Amino acid sequence: MCKTEQAMGFGSSSKRWLSEGYKKVVSGLVNPKHKRFAILEDHPVGRDHAQAAVESQQNLKDNIKAIKKEFKIYRWNPDLPSQKPFLKSYFIDLTTCGPMVLDALQKIKAEDDSSLSYRRSCREGICGSCAMNIDGTNTVACLKPIDTNTSKATYITPLPHMYVIKDLVVDLTNFYQQYKSIEPWLKTKKPPPGGKEYLQTPSDRKKLDGLYECILCACCSTCPSYWWNPEEFDGPAALLHAHRWISDR
Ligand code: SF4
Ligand code: FES
Repeated sequence: MCKTEQAMGFGSSSKRWLSEGYKKVVSGLVNPKHKRFAILEDHPVGRDHAQAAVESQQNLKDNIKAIKKEFKIYRWNPDLPSQKPFLKSYFIDLTTCGPMVLDALQKIKAEDDSSLSYRRSCREGICGSCAMNIDGTNTVACLKPIDTNTSKATYITPLPHMYVIKDLVVDLTNFYQQYKSIEPWLKTKKPPPGGKEYLQTPSDRKKLDGLYECILCACCSTCPSYWWNPEEFDGPAALLHAHRWISDR
């Protein structure tokens, strides 16, 4: 045992531990042509640190496996029409990500792949723009919590009944056209009493509950009738809004 090792209080078992760590590091780091790692030779503190580095890297790898979540996301680029749509995997460290699927998409776009396209605006379930299919269910990504089970991937695809413009962005032209077709505004036959405003009783207001909350996300447009006849059938959202305005008398 050298003087430095004695001063540091290394016994024979810790010496063996260090030398094994040293070998591990050397076998991993040394250029096989030279078979030497001069900095660590006869340097117990260096070996100690090297062993600790090996172990901490291994721990890191194990932890990364445990906390990284795979997202498989539908990709299609209209600028590459010959390339078929495909699912691309992204791995997210959930400890540095917000709780919702939209947070994961934002993180991927900001840190990993800026070419990923999707719509979002309010991030709180008001605008309806982040509608997509997540693990088989149409929903808004900003209100969908990430499934933290890291043993399985989360699948994200565009709304299934719409034409895709790019990645998760779908063409909502027909959907909005149908909404427009029901003329979604109040129509009156008589001028307001007193010429100023139409007063609404609490019971009349109550009639609108369940009708006014629609955020036009288009998630509900996957019903079979809409799927088969999207040009003829206005779909649940437009009909719901029609009922809302008819009820508002
Ligand atoms: S009715 Fe349809 S479009 Fe409106 S919020 Fe519900 S799922 Fe979205
Ligand atoms: S971003 Fe507005 S509903 Fe999700």
